[in-house]
Amino acid sequence: MRVITTAAEFARFRAGAPSPVGLVPTMGCLHAGHLSLVEKARQDNAAAVASIFVNPAQFGPNEDFGRYPRTFDRDCDLLSQAKVDAVFAPLPEEMYPQGYDTWVEVGSITQRLEGTARPGHFRGVATVVLKLFNIVRPDNAYFGQKDAQQVLVIRKMARDLNLDINIITLPIVRDESGLALSSRNTYLSREEKTAAGRIPAALKLAESMLAGGENNAGAIREALTRFLEADPALRIEYISIAGPDSLEELESIGQPALLSLAVWAGGTRLIDNTVLAPTRKDSAG
Ligand code: PAJ
Repeated sequence: MRVITTAAEFARFRAGAPSPVGLVPTMGCLHAGHLSLVEKARQDNAAAVASIFVNPAQFGPNEDFGRYPRTFDRDCDLLSQAKVDAVFAPLPEEMYPQGYDTWVEVGSITQRLEGTARPGHFRGVATVVLKLFNIVRPDNAYFGQKDAQQVLVIRKMARDLNLDINIITLPIVRDESGLALSSRNTYLSREEKTAAGRIPAALKLAESMLAGGENNAGAIREALTRFLEADPALRIEYISIAGPDSLEELESIGQPALLSLAVWAGGTRLIDNTVLAPTRKDSAG
């Protein structure tokens, strides 16, 4: 496995790489969620590439950029075991040299949910992903449904900017308690981790309410708020039930809807989501 740190060196690797090329962009501290993307990229492509870059541009000034977990050697071991051909791991100055001043702004879908909670976040994500796409020039790029809004933003950018890249989305990988795997789970104390178990349980609660005939989005939001707030270690930032493409909030669930939430467990911000799909009672069979 090649470990490549500059765009120029990557261009030399790319010139000799077989097609198709698959890319899995990551910020490292890899877990089974990342590895599910890597495995799919390995299966689908003649050349499999992963990137590891903790992108300063997508962190707010008071966020965890400085203490974001960095486990580079372990990540490389895992990627090499997964038979990745090349890892692109640039330094910040390679991606944002002095005087760097071009940014990708995706429109209205970045103004909701994570975009409201984390101003500038998606501008940083879209910019770095476009740069990674231009350096790696993948045919296929792999993203997790864990970051549902991020997937929408990347797909919108790809469509609007005529990128000739297939965007592939894979399901959320969870631990045995149901908690969605995240590099940030390493921040959780034992008590916080137990409390965080309420997050996937809340998603299940919503699914069972819907299955029981409750399709009022407000009623589901209220029930989830009560359920999550029952543990004092948790603080809700938002609970959204929205159109899965527009991210516009819904009053009632007649079509599949994206239930997404951001919840603080102590000092750690966690996100999770599920698609709520109403079963149609009027269709035969
Ligand atoms: P990072 O948080 O490292 O995640 C890299 C990819 O792994 C993303 O596509 C994310 O959705 C996916 N992922 C994370 N946890 C997952 C889980 N439990 N199940 C399935 N997939 C999961 O997302 C980023 O990095 C960055 O924003 C990036 C796209 C690399 C741009 O900097």
